Amino acid sequence: MSDKAATAQESLEALLKEARSFPPSEEFRRQANVSDPMIYEAARQDLEGFWAEEAKRLDWFQTWSKVLEWNAPWAKWFVDGKLNATYNCVDRHAKSFRRNKAAIIWEGEPGDSRTLTFEALEREVNRFANVLKSLGAKKGDRVAIYMGMVPELAIAMLACAKIGAPHSVVFGGFSAESLRERINDAQAKILITCDGGWRRGGVVPLKANADEALTGTPTIEKVVVVERVGKAAQIAMKPGRDYWWHELVANASDQCDPEPMDAEDMLYILYTSGTTGKPKGVVHTTGGYLVGTSTTHRMIFDIKEDDVYWCTADIGWVTGHSYIVYGPLANGCTTVMYEGSPDYPDRGRFWSIVAKYRVNIFYTAPTAIRSFMRWGTEWPAKYDLSSLRVIGTVGEPINPEAWIWYHQNIGRERCPIVDTWWQTETGMILITPLPGLTATKPGSATQPFPGVEAEVLDGKDRSVGPGAGGYLVLSKPWPAMFRTIYGDPDRYVRQYWSQYDGKYFTGDGAKVDEDGYFWLLGRVDDVMNVAGHRISTYEVESALVDHPAVAEAAVIGKTHEVKGQGIAGFVTLKEGIRASAKLKDELKQHVVKKIGPIARPDDIFFTSELPKTRSAKIMRRLLRDIAEGRVLGDTTTLADPAVTSRLKRQYEEEGKGD
Ligand code: PRX
Repeated sequence: MSDKAATAQESLEALLKEARSFPPSEEFRRQANVSDPMIYEAARQDLEGFWAEEAKRLDWFQTWSKVLEWNAPWAKWFVDGKLNATYNCVDRHAKSFRRNKAAIIWEGEPGDSRTLTFEALEREVNRFANVLKSLGAKKGDRVAIYMGMVPELAIAMLACAKIGAPHSVVFGGFSAESLRERINDAQAKILITCDGGWRRGGVVPLKANADEALTGTPTIEKVVVVERVGKAAQIAMKPGRDYWWHELVANASDQCDPEPMDAEDMLYILYTSGTTGKPKGVVHTTGGYLVGTSTTHRMIFDIKEDDVYWCTADIGWVTGHSYIVYGPLANGCTTVMYEGSPDYPDRGRFWSIVAKYRVNIFYTAPTAIRSFMRWGTEWPAKYDLSSLRVIGTVGEPINPEAWIWYHQNIGRERCPIVDTWWQTETGMILITPLPGLTATKPGSATQPFPGVEAEVLDGKDRSVGPGAGGYLVLSKPWPAMFRTIYGDPDRYVRQYWSQYDGKYFTGDGAKVDEDGYFWLLGRVDDVMNVAGHRISTYEVESALVDHPAVAEAAVIGKTHEVKGQGIAGFVTLKEGIRASAKLKDELKQHVVKKIGPIARPDDIFFTSELPKTRSAKIMRRLLRDIAEGRVLGDTTTLADPAVTSRLKRQYEEEGKGD
């Protein structure tokens, strides 16, 4: 195991001593969607049968001839099956007893809200699908989406899926450059954006960023702009290229037949950070993805017909794709979408939304829970949270303190907590409690979902055994697994499937305890997890060295009380450039400009040299030791071991570099 995994493991030793266990109440178990423990054994014995049964809950235009074709690492699920994701998420419900049921409840920044029934959503999606067609989009064409959390974002995605045009949603907090890079990698033909987005009363300049990105995107032909902030954003519309959403849909028909898609046709691309500077376009396909996300959503969140479900993620991330849009809507479930932040206009905002809509299922990130802890119990205490039944977390390990706080103050010691482990690549939740079955332990994501096989291995494909740390590996395919990296199948093989024969390498460290419970120990590669967002150290380093004052930079993730990890940059300046507080701020701003606010370094530390091996490789693990105030690890491979001790001394003297 790498040094990073080893330290993560050490710091989590305390966590593993966590002995408390929370079985589901008898009352919950009795009403749960899944209450028979045999489900695990049944899925183990007949993986394909298990998923085929689940797939029957969807509407297929043509049924599959084979459940799974697995030539590792290439998977085909529901071979020859034909379906349409939007038909399954919207149309079929609009034609059923659910037609007047709320599909999307949207809560905007204070003062704004909108509810779309399944029938209304169908009409809106059809109109926009026809707009896309009139702009020249055809099956297979990629459509980029760069928007805030407005209903049109979900409508746009579903419209793309309706006509078979894969979408590539780029998180609205990314910079113009990041957007450009993603548009170009996907070779998108159309971009959908907003004039701006509301954020804590201020405006995110989405259209202005898009314009900047579009100076270098030769494939984009048309741009559709949703009016969200109006006069609050000064925007320019380019004739012949830019169109207003409301003008286009006003004249569009609300009838549109779904495009029959092969189960293996691409549904979307979503970019995520890897260990290099270039983001990876994770490819998800139609059939298996929809089966995987809808099944996990129904079982893990114990979804009932009249539930109101709220996942607080942004749709710009995979959590929003799978568990705000596709999973819930495929299940005909009411899904809440919230535009703003948890502390605007005040720190009770989330709880006021739970009370307002009588939310039953609530799914958020540990980083948010740690903020709530800081803000104090008085905020949730003011609101009626009695509607909540199941509460969940995702995105990073949850520390037992935060888990217990969540249990007491939000779940009111009544709601099962589901700590769900998964990734952009996995498409669906893979390690998780089932709320009617699993006795949870604070800090553990518990067990693989039925049919999922996870192992913890050493570097040589050997199981490490109970209690020992190792690499988390998945040894069986699952339906929502990604199929490739867009345009780079070699990277798909190299990065995920070449470490262990026929097994998927997750990039996470983990440990299994005597009860078979999984404890996630964080990333073992150069990927940071900052407030639940994946950011590669290399991307931030590239942004820093792009600044004219910087000679060299090394970036590490450093323990942060609320965000899990913060970003620390060690920077050497070019000859003759003087270090200053102003320059630090400038460098931080430069990273924001290059990548986006989520990658803003917390600390910048100027140094005249960086610890390197004799082959000139920067030793990040030593920088991590320094930043965390730990005893320095092995320095024997360094070209000049004195560099590190000097750096450590300097770091301690100056205080964390900020
Ligand atoms: O390190 C794991 C962490 O988040 C990574 C995946 O990030 P991303 O692709 O952005 O997807 C996040 C939302 C699915 C994983 O490699 N992670 C995610 N969930 C958990 C987690 N770590 C511990 N516990 C979790 N429940």
